[in-house]
Amino acid sequence: MSGFADKVVVVTGGASGIGLATVRLLAEAGATVVSIDRADPGPAAKVGARLELQGDVGSEDTVAAQACMISDRCGPIDMLVCAAGYSNGKSVPDCPLDEWGAILRTNLTGTFLWSREAVRQMRTTGRGGAIVMIGSQLASAGGRSNAAYLASKGALVSLARSMAVDHAADGIRVNVLVPGAIDTPLLDRAFARAADPAAARAASVARHPLGRLGRPDEMARAIRFLLSDDASFTTGACLNAEGGWLAY
Ligand SMILES: NC(=O)c1ccc[n+]([C@@H]2O[C@H](COP(=O)([O-])OP(=O)(O)OC[C@H]3O[C@@H](n4cnc5c(N)ncnc54)[C@H](O)[C@@H]3O)[C@@H](O)[C@H]2O)c1
Repeated sequence: MSGFADKVVVVTGGASGIGLATVRLLAEAGATVVSIDRADPGPAAKVGARLELQGDVGSEDTVAAQACMISDRCGPIDMLVCAAGYSNGKSVPDCPLDEWGAILRTNLTGTFLWSREAVRQMRTTGRGGAIVMIGSQLASAGGRSNAAYLASKGALVSLARSMAVDHAADGIRVNVLVPGAIDTPLLDRAFARAADPAAARAASVARHPLGRLGRPDEMARAIRFLLSDDASFTTGACLNAEGGWLAY
């Protein structure tokens, strides 16, 4: 695959944060970008998405219907970025089963459902494809009071490796971007749960050797790299873009 001009790219979580920055960057690169989000699709429309679909990535029926609509209106999916995700800031004893299930359903099952539709469509074109899942530095390093979130992000790495092996012969590459703490509404909500949100933010900044939080546009550029031909020999890999968090 070369360039993005003739590519149909689906970005889940495209209404905010990393997903929104990715919609903007890939639209600027000429891709036909479809944003999926359960929130108001307005932001993605403003940054160049061709199509914005509202819905829950954890709903099998919704994902199947939206994938079909995308194929009809834009053409088969060439690339997929699974950025929809959230956390609840709870350790195991404090985590109700419904919250555990809902986080796994969005972060892990939502990625599975969209990947399944994307691979099915990619196989019909014979052009191959590329998928990027969004992991977390905390799934490698460990983190406090976020058990369901960390479990979901750790599982994504295994899912990506499994898919990388299964679909290599179809020319489909599957990789994981591993961000650090990125300045988005998700992170704001995480800091707001702390007893002292300002102190939590300062501690997070200090935890990165680069001495700052990451920006959504920095994640978007790393995602663009993983999708592009520049990463043509990269599959089943984790790309750390975490300000050095995992370096010590
Ligand atoms: N911000 C960080 O520090 C950070 C660090 C590591 C990983 N990540 C991951 O990056 C991804 C993007 O996070 P962000 O920081 O941009 O968050 P964000 O909250 O700014 O954006 C996430 C988007 O996903 C959407 N979403 C959530 N659940 C959904 C569902 N079930 N169906 C459809 N849409 C849904 C939300 O409406 C939101 O628009 C997430 O997977 C997150 O876990 C973020």
